[in-house]
Parts: sequence; structure tokens; C-alpha cells
Amino acid sequence: MKAFSLKKLSSASYGGLIEKIEVLRSSIRFTPGLSADVKQALNKQVNELREELMMLSRKERAEATPLLSKARAQTKKTEPSSVSTSQRRESLLERNFAFEGVFGDSPKLLDAFEIAEKAAPTNLPVLIEGESGTGKELMAKVVHANGKRADKPFISVNCGAIPENLLESELFGHKKGSFTGASSDRSGKFESANHGTIFLDEIGEMPLAGQVKLLRVLQANEIQRVGSDEITKVDTRIVAATNRDLLQMSQDGTFREDLYYRLGVIHVTLPPLRERKDEIGVLIEYFCDEASESLERPPVNISPSLYHFLQNYRYPGNIRELRNIIYRLSCLADETAEVEHLPEAIKPLDNKTVVKSGEMTLGDIKKAASDEAEKHYLREGLKTVKGKVSALAKITGMNRSYLQTLLKKHGIHSKEFKVGGKDATSI
Ligand SMILES: Nc1ncnc2c1ncn2[C@@H]1O[C@H](COP(=O)(O)OP(=O)(O)OP(=O)(O)O)[C@@H](O)[C@H]1O
Ligand SMILES: [Mg+2]
Repeated sequence: MKAFSLKKLSSASYGGLIEKIEVLRSSIRFTPGLSADVKQALNKQVNELREELMMLSRKERAEATPLLSKARAQTKKTEPSSVSTSQRRESLLERNFAFEGVFGDSPKLLDAFEIAEKAAPTNLPVLIEGESGTGKELMAKVVHANGKRADKPFISVNCGAIPENLLESELFGHKKGSFTGASSDRSGKFESANHGTIFLDEIGEMPLAGQVKLLRVLQANEIQRVGSDEITKVDTRIVAATNRDLLQMSQDGTFREDLYYRLGVIHVTLPPLRERKDEIGVLIEYFCDEASESLERPPVNISPSLYHFLQNYRYPGNIRELRNIIYRLSCLADETAEVEHLPEAIKPLDNKTVVKSGEMTLGDIKKAASDEAEKHYLREGLKTVKGKVSALAKITGMNRSYLQTLLKKHGIHSKEFKVGGKDATSI
């Protein structure tokens, strides 16, 4: 624990807290040979700091911003495209950028952060594009949290989830008696979000009638409740998101082209997870901690073969899918999660236990049997030598590094076979 005796971390500014979290996290991530106990203690500190961070009001966060405007002016000059991603992330931190829990530092994600940072203090509409589960809603919160409206409401509306006949009333409110069920006057989400931000998720699902009304808000900052002649001024910043190709939709006539251009003054594009592969490890670790907290269990360890799978899987559901997988593993596995804990639909063929002739070729079946035998042989061998890989290499006549490769391939941890040690390597 010596190297990390940050002890009780005293309360600090928003920026200071984020920085401490980052320092701790990178220590956990990049220091080789940390024991599971130390990692757990460090993760506990991270969680405490995270809680402290959440206690700070939005106002306190916003107040920290002017202090950094100088730094912003100074650092702007030092941002040529050649700077490393960690430098870019660090300079965002220095400028007190609120990440709102968005993790990762791939160049494309940093591009998105930097655009969001510039857009945040303005009232310009922002259109966030990206496949399902890439973090569009989180990014909308980032735009809100980094702007002048940070301590005002952030109201989220899923345009795809509200029935077409209710969407207008939901957004703009209604007058008593304007339709069956409208038993009293009601304000809509735009009014609730006055002075703050409204997040219009799945904007591509909005019916054309609603699109016309939305255009009016964008043009004149005014709304009209359903069934009312009265016009109300609103000061609501619009951030919209979509996983559809709105330009194509506008060419097809299903989305208004004028609205598309109005909404998309600033585009923020979130890359799919398969284009940010180098971040998968960090995200796995982050979600293991998160799941551990929420399921009240120690963070699950990931076996090397499962880790290899998670690193190479294509994630059609992006970060949400990765998060769900990690929660599933954390729920189903004991100490260490293995490939067999994966959902059946994505489990690699070798690990599917049902071996029916006709579903697999003879070659597949032979390979699976030979793999199983190899795994058994290695486990039995390690038991005999009490986990000493060098001793096993000697008695089997195998090259030590080849043996290590085999152990890795089968997700076998030599430590598990040491006397009294059940301590599988964590990621
Ligand atoms: N970079 C990230 N770091 C940490 N968590 C993330 C990140 N991106 C997304 N998440 C998490 O992944 C999940 C999906 O994110 P979010 O709901 O923002 O995605 P989305 O693009 O709006 O998805 P959808 O299109 O399906 O609505 C959330 O639980 C979010 O907290
Ligand atoms: Mg969403």
C-alpha cells in the first residue's frame, strides 16, 4: 500500500477532485503487480472521491470555471493536432471540463469532448450522432454541465417513446379540455427546461407535425400549448441526439430538411466502441468497479481468455452492451468470471457446451476435446507442482514461455494452485 498512501483525501474543488480520481485510476491501471487487496483499497478511495464529487452542487462546479478561463486562453495555443491523447485529456481537466462520468480517451472521443467544450457556453443547438449505446445522453449532459446553464434544469425527452398524439402536449404543454384526458392546464417539457437544456433523444422518431412546432422554437424561442392561442417565450437550449442518418431522412422526406440544418449547427459524433478498442480495458475496469458498488460485492476478476474475448468482440450495442455484459458477469461469477459466464448469444463457439453432431464439424469436435484435455493436463500438472510454472515446465519438458501462453489461452492462473492461495490475477 506504500506507493499509494494518498491517505484520507481531503475535500477539494471540483477540478481537484477530478484530478485525484484520475491520478488514482491511472495508478490502478498502469502499476504492474498490484495485489488484489491494494487494488480494492484504491478503488474504495476512488469511490469515496466520486461520492464527494457528486455532493458538490452544479453551482460550485460552475463557479470553478472562471478561475480556469485564463488557463483556457493559455492552453488553447498549445493544442496542435500532434499532442497526445493523454495531454489532450489533461488539458481538458486543467480547464475544469466536466466529464460527467464519460470515460475513455480515444482521439475521436477527445474530438467530441473538445467540440462539446466549445459549444457548451453558447446557446447554439447541438446534434449528437452515434450508434445506439455510444453515450449520446451522457454527452448531452456534458454539453449542459460545461455551460452557463449548468445549475438549471436538464430535461430529457425520448421522442421515440412517447405516442405520436401525446408528443406535442408532452413538449409544449396543453390547455384544459384541448383533448380527451386534458383535465387541467399543463406545462410541457420546454417550459420545465426554461433557462436550462432540453435533451431531445431519438429526434429522428419525431413526427412531422411535431417537427414544425420544434422549428418554431428554434426560430423564435416561443411555444404554444396545445389548444391555446397564447404564445409563451422560452429560453431553452436544445441538444438533440439520433442514431439515424437525418440527412438521408430529410432527402427521403421523413425529416424536415430545414429542421435538420437548424438543429445541427454543431455536430458531435460519437465513435462506435469497435473503433475505440484501446479503451475497452479502461471501460471494463470502470464498469467492474461500478457493478461491484451496485451489487455490493468485490470487483469481479476477469479470466485472461474472457478478457481476450471482451477486447475483440464487436459490440453492436456499444458501451451499453459492454456495461450490461460486465454487470451480468459480476452477478453470475464468483471470484473470477470466465467465458462461460457470457450470454449464450455472444459466447464463442468453442465455449458452447452443447455439442450436437450436425451443429459442429468433426474437426470442431476434435479440437474442442483436445482443448479440454490440454486444459485438464495443465491444471493437474499445476496441482502437482503447487502452482510453480518453472517446475511444471521442467517436468513436462515444455518451454516456459510456451507454457505461459497455454495457461493464458485456457484462463488458468498458476496462483490459484499455490498453497493457501486462491488469488486469481485481476485485470
Ligand atoms: N464513455 C463512457 N464512459 C462511461 N460510461 C459510458 C460511456 N458512454 C456510455 N456510457 C454508459 O453506457 C450506457 C449508454 O449510454 P447512453 O444512454 O448515453 O447511450 P446512447 O447513445 O444514448 O444510447 P441509445 O442510443 O441506445 O439511447 C449508459 O449506462 C452510460 O452511462
Ligand atoms: Mg439514449
